[in-house]
Amino acid sequence: MSIFDLPLFVILLYLFISVAKCQTVYDITKYGAAPNGDATQGLMGAWKLACASLTPARVLVPAGSYRLGPVLFTGPCKSPTTIEIRGNFKAPADPAVFKDADSWVKFERLDDLTVIAGKGAGVFDGQGQVAWKSHNCIENPQCHTLPYNFRFNFLANSEIGGLSSVNSKSFHIAVLGCDKLNLHDFQISAPANSPNTDGIHIGRSRDVNISRFNIGTGDDCVSFGDGAKNILVEKVTCGPGHGISIGSLGRYPDEAPVTGITIRNCTIRNTDNGVRVKTWFASYKTTASALHFENIIVDNVFNPVLVDQEYCPWNRCKAKTPSSVQLTDIWFKNVRGTSKGREAVKLICSSGVPCQKVELANIDVRYTGPGGPAVSECKNVKPITSGKINPPACGAPATTTTNDV
Ligand SMILES: *[C@@H]1O[C@H](CO)[C@@H](O)[C@H](O)[C@H]1NC(C)=O
Ligand SMILES: *[C@@H]1O[C@H](CO)[C@@H](O)[C@H](O)[C@H]1NC(C)=O
Repeated sequence: MSIFDLPLFVILLYLFISVAKCQTVYDITKYGAAPNGDATQGLMGAWKLACASLTPARVLVPAGSYRLGPVLFTGPCKSPTTIEIRGNFKAPADPAVFKDADSWVKFERLDDLTVIAGKGAGVFDGQGQVAWKSHNCIENPQCHTLPYNFRFNFLANSEIGGLSSVNSKSFHIAVLGCDKLNLHDFQISAPANSPNTDGIHIGRSRDVNISRFNIGTGDDCVSFGDGAKNILVEKVTCGPGHGISIGSLGRYPDEAPVTGITIRNCTIRNTDNGVRVKTWFASYKTTASALHFENIIVDNVFNPVLVDQEYCPWNRCKAKTPSSVQLTDIWFKNVRGTSKGREAVKLICSSGVPCQKVELANIDVRYTGPGGPAVSECKNVKPITSGKINPPACGAPATTTTNDV
């Protein structure tokens, strides 16, 4: 029998095993991590050796419940590196321990990184409860920012999957400067009233996939900052929280364009917003294009479909002059479910740069609260429609305004 007679999967399995075999394994308990003790030193010790290895290397975290201080996994490494996690981690509850660290677990400047967690493992508990109490960033924009659970900075050709981020002190995950990053199968949770605990924020990155996430937080579920390009968000469930948001854009000078954002097959439940695009009033000039929302289920969401180019929370914008962020090529297709607010579809575009090429197709969002059926509102936009559109596009403007953050 020749190798060509073997079923493909057997060949693949063989290849996989041989590749796995030539990875050198660095077990963190051999470098100072005590099982069920503190993992900081052992993890960093094992990582240093793995990252310096001339052949593919693997850091192994055996089963156990570990304490973990702020850690930085930084590259470049000499060859592809894997971190295999079979244990769970707890952060110091006291934010003072983090001093100037902007995050708890940071991966930076790495190419060909793989992080995987086994079933029931890979839980990173940020223990944010204490920090949230002292947090006052809504009233005081100069407040000291709390550490994020994860930062993925300047990663390329990498995959991170199977992790859980719990009770982060601030954002759970921020993605910055990445190129070809595949993030999948994450569980993200923090209470609905925890401040600033955004699920995942992506900025200045290209070719990033986010799939099979389950996100319940006190703030945005998924949000995009400037320079996000070619990002796919698929099979993500949001709620509670503030929903999926592109922006806010235009607050700072020289923001890079946002383009090619696809959000599809997502379910958004018990949130303030469903899918939205927001740009500041009195903004700097920039653009966002090819923003495609498809196959979205909304369930008890206050503003299911929202374009808001008059964003000005807490009256923090300088003047109420029109936004200069040009929005082009936006789809909302196949959005179904229930609205908690009467204005289920709101497209509020800028009078300075009206939205171009906006499409609504197969929208069916019902409202059963007081005041009559769901309505929609349009400003400075003429959407193209197809299929069933409920509420009818650009109906009579309703009078309620939202006070959302
Ligand atoms: C993202 O998903 C698309 C479509 O499934 C795929 O073509 C692409 O290679 C993926 N990119 C990454 C970085 O995983
Ligand atoms: C996304 O949802 C659509 C409509 O519900 C469905 O036809 C399609 O198969 C789904 N795609 C994936 C990748 O699950």
